[in-house]
Amino acid sequence: MTMMEEKLLVMHGITKEFPGVRALDHVELQLEKGTVHALMGENGAGKSTLMKILMGIYQPDEGEITLKGQTVKIDNPKKALKMGISMIHQELMPIPDMSVADNIFLYDYPAKKGFVQKSVLYKKTEELFRELGIEGVSSRVFMKELSQAQMQMVEIAKAVSAKADVIIMDEPTSAISDHEVENLFRIICTLRSKGVGILYISHKMDEIFKISDYITVLRDGQYIDSAPSDKLNQEKLVRLMVGRELKSIYDRHPSVTGEVMLEVKHLKCKGVCEDVSFKLHKGEVLGFAGLVGAGRTEIMEAVFGMRKRQGGDIIKEGKKLKICNVRDAIDYGLALASEDRKKFGLFLELSISYNITISWLKHLQKSGIVNRRGEREKAGNLSKDLQIKSSSIKTRVGKLSGGNQQKVVLAKWLLTEPDILILDEPTRGIDIGAKKEIYTLIEQLAREGKGVIVISSEMPELIGISDRIITVHEGAVKGSYTGTEITQERIMMDLG
Ligand SMILES: Nc1ncnc2c1ncn2[C@@H]1O[C@H](COP(=O)(O)OP(=O)(O)OP(=O)(O)O)[C@@H](O)[C@H]1O
Ligand SMILES: [Mg+2]
Repeated sequence: MTMMEEKLLVMHGITKEFPGVRALDHVELQLEKGTVHALMGENGAGKSTLMKILMGIYQPDEGEITLKGQTVKIDNPKKALKMGISMIHQELMPIPDMSVADNIFLYDYPAKKGFVQKSVLYKKTEELFRELGIEGVSSRVFMKELSQAQMQMVEIAKAVSAKADVIIMDEPTSAISDHEVENLFRIICTLRSKGVGILYISHKMDEIFKISDYITVLRDGQYIDSAPSDKLNQEKLVRLMVGRELKSIYDRHPSVTGEVMLEVKHLKCKGVCEDVSFKLHKGEVLGFAGLVGAGRTEIMEAVFGMRKRQGGDIIKEGKKLKICNVRDAIDYGLALASEDRKKFGLFLELSISYNITISWLKHLQKSGIVNRRGEREKAGNLSKDLQIKSSSIKTRVGKLSGGNQQKVVLAKWLLTEPDILILDEPTRGIDIGAKKEIYTLIEQLAREGKGVIVISSEMPELIGISDRIITVHEGAVKGSYTGTEITQERIMMDLG
C-alpha cells in the first residue's frame, strides 16, 4: 500500500481471547473512504467482537488499529466517538425516557453558559433529519415511542452528528420491514457519497450483494478473505464462510400430512383480529406469510395464551382446549418460540443449560419427578444438534453471539417435546449453515407427525420449507396455498 491510497481504517493482526474462546485470531480489515464494507461469517465467527474492539468496548490482546494513517489506541466508546467512529448496535441501546433530540446530542450538548437550549437542539435535529432524508420522526418525542426502525434512524443521525467517518452497523435490518430496509439503504448511499466508510454486518445474502462494495469473511475467529463484492457470488461467499460446499439449503421432501391436529376457529382478539380460522395437520409445516405488522405474531400469541381472547375456539385433535395462559398451552403440548429473544424468556445472566431447561423443569416438577442428569444430557444434545457455539453449556447466555442466543430459544422449546411447535422468525440473525440445520430439524419434526407453524418475513425461506402457506393481511386470513400454487407473486398479491 502506498501513501497515495491511504486507507480510512486498517485493523491489523487483531487477536482477542475470552476465557475458553479465541474469538479473534490475527484478523485483518481494511476500510476505504466512501465505501460499504460487509463483514460476513457464521454465528460466533467474531464479527461483533471485532466491531466492539473498534468501538473501544473491548481491548484487543494483540494487533494494531490505524485511522487515517495514524496508529490509535481506542480506550473506550467515548474516545471512539471522538475519533469519528460510531456504532449502531445489534441490540439498540437508546435512552427511552429522553427525547429524540436529547438522544442524538447526548455527548455533544449545544449548551450556553451551562444551560441546554432545547430550541436549538430541536432545530439542529430537524436539519440533520432533512440532510439525511429521514422522514416521519419528530425531534421532540421520547425515544420509547419510536419503532425499531425509527430508533435506528435516530442512531444513524446521532452518528452523523458526531461527525463519524466510520459507521458500524451490526445487523441493522434484522428487525425492520422491507420498506424500512429500502429507506435505510437510501440513507447508507447518502452517507457513502459523503465519504463515510460503513462497516456492515448482516446474515442476509441478497442485502450484502445489493449494498456492499467489499466483503471480508471471518470463520471461527480467523481471517479468511477479503474481496470486492462484484468478484464474489452467493455460492463463493458461502463456501468462504462455512469452509465447505453447502448444497441447496432447501431440499425439502414434502411430508405426508395426516388428519387435523389443531383447529383455530373464529379467533377474536382485541386490536389483533376479528375472525381468524385455520387448520394445522399432523406432519405439516404451515407457513404464515404477511408484512411486518400484519398481526401474525399477535395471532399466535393469542392462540398460545399470551393474549386475552374475546372469542373463538382452539381445538386439538377434536378436543376443545381451555388455554388461559402460557402454562396451559405448554401442558396441552404447544410451544411458541418467539422472535424477540430479549422480551421473552432468555435469562442473560444464567447458563445455556439453565435457559434451555427452564420450561422443561416446571413441567417435570408438576409431575413430581426431576431428573437433573437427564435434563442436562438433553440440553447438551440439543446444544450440539443446533451447533450452539460456546465453550460449555455452563456458559452464560449473555456471552453468546446474537445468533447463538436465538438457537438457545429454539432449544428451550424443542425440549418441551411439543406436538405443535410455533416458530416466529426462527432464523432471524442466524447464519446460513445453521439455517440449514434448523430447516432439517423442522422437516424431521414434521416427519415425526408433529405440526409446525412457521412465521417468517423471508419469502424464499417460507416457500422453501412450507407444505402450505396462509397469507395474513391486517389481522385477517386472506388465502391458503399448497404445492404449485405457492409462488412469490401469488403470495405478494395477498399481502399488498
Ligand atoms: N463477553 C464475552 N465473553 C465471553 N465470550 C464472548 C464474549 N463476547 C463474545 N464471546 C464469544 O466470542 C465468539 C465470537 O462472538 P461474536 O459475538 O463476535 O460473534 P458474531 O460473529 O458477531 O456472531 P453472530 O452472527 O451470531 O452475531 C463467540 O464464541 C462468543 O461466544
Ligand atoms: Mg454478532
